[in-house]
Amino acid sequence: MDSPSPLRVLLDPEHGAEFPLPPDISALYGPLGFPSPPGRPYILSNFVTSLDGVVSLGMPGRTDGDAISGANEHDSMVMGLLRAVSDAIIVGAGTLRKSPGHIWTPGHVFPPMAGAFALLRRRIGKEEAPLNVFVTGGGKLDPGLPVFHAKGVPVAIITTRQGAAHLKAAGMPARVEIVSVSEDMLPTARGIIDAVSTLLPGGRIFMMEGGPHLLAQFIAEGCLDELFLTLAPQMAGRDGHLDRMGLTAGIIFSPDNPVWGELVSLRVGGSHLFLRYAFHAGEPLPLGERD
Ligand SMILES: NC(=O)c1ccc[n+]([C@@H]2O[C@H](COP(=O)([O-])OP(=O)(O)OC[C@H]3O[C@@H](n4cnc5c(N)ncnc54)[C@H](OP(=O)(O)O)[C@@H]3O)[C@@H](O)[C@H]2O)c1
Repeated sequence: MDSPSPLRVLLDPEHGAEFPLPPDISALYGPLGFPSPPGRPYILSNFVTSLDGVVSLGMPGRTDGDAISGANEHDSMVMGLLRAVSDAIIVGAGTLRKSPGHIWTPGHVFPPMAGAFALLRRRIGKEEAPLNVFVTGGGKLDPGLPVFHAKGVPVAIITTRQGAAHLKAAGMPARVEIVSVSEDMLPTARGIIDAVSTLLPGGRIFMMEGGPHLLAQFIAEGCLDELFLTLAPQMAGRDGHLDRMGLTAGIIFSPDNPVWGELVSLRVGGSHLFLRYAFHAGEPLPLGERD
């Protein structure tokens, strides 16, 4: 596969100490850095939406990000890069069930740069692969999924006490660390981050890769520092029958509890936009009823 062309950088002030990107990566992306808040990890997220805000087509076999991005190479490269600098990738059970063959490593999402991503991880002193973390309330995950058996990929599941019992009874491999953080309530974003921080003391960057329900939970609790959003130039459409989720689901923010981001970077690759928004992580929102 030919390497994609360099992204055009339209806005990208300094964001903090820059990573020592290998030349193959910096030629395509330009510089990348993050602020280092003292005493806690920095929380990122990465999504792709259509122009009309759809993240999943909601059709069997076509629910993944490729169907939204048009299998866009820049989008895969950016996701690989963000995974390469992350200590942990956090994923909701809904997303895992819709992408059962996926493994959340940099090389899996963009194989042409697997070598450059591995070199970057060595340069910044990270383990071979980020910790793959799955979050489930009920624990109904198939222990046979490839990610639970992937060599060199550490895996943890954050769940409830009930979910943990279910996972153990279902035969989850012993190499998968199961952490229960609550009795039967869904894990909170803070509970998830604390559990991952305990597994990875000193972990600096955690990336939450969806889906919309888990992202909404992180936003509601003031736990999202930055969203990397690819805007793909297609209209997906909605007809009220297919489940075509937007970026968040399950929680209402606007107008009573609006959440505004600040555009901190903008890159262009063809007609795809690569947006980076900062949110001022902090206090949880005073939200009412959730669905
Ligand atoms: N376009 C993109 O960039 C992108 C990115 C990611 C995902 N997606 C798409 O999004 C869809 C899945 O999204 P989703 O919203 O249905 O699923 P999700 O957010 O990935 O997962 C939701 C599940 O996470 C578990 N969970 C545990 N604690 C939670 C909490 N506090 N709040 C919410 N969930 C919690 C529950 O699992 P249990 O049910 O096991 O209890 C819940 O059903 C898929 O089609 C996927 O392809 C698209």
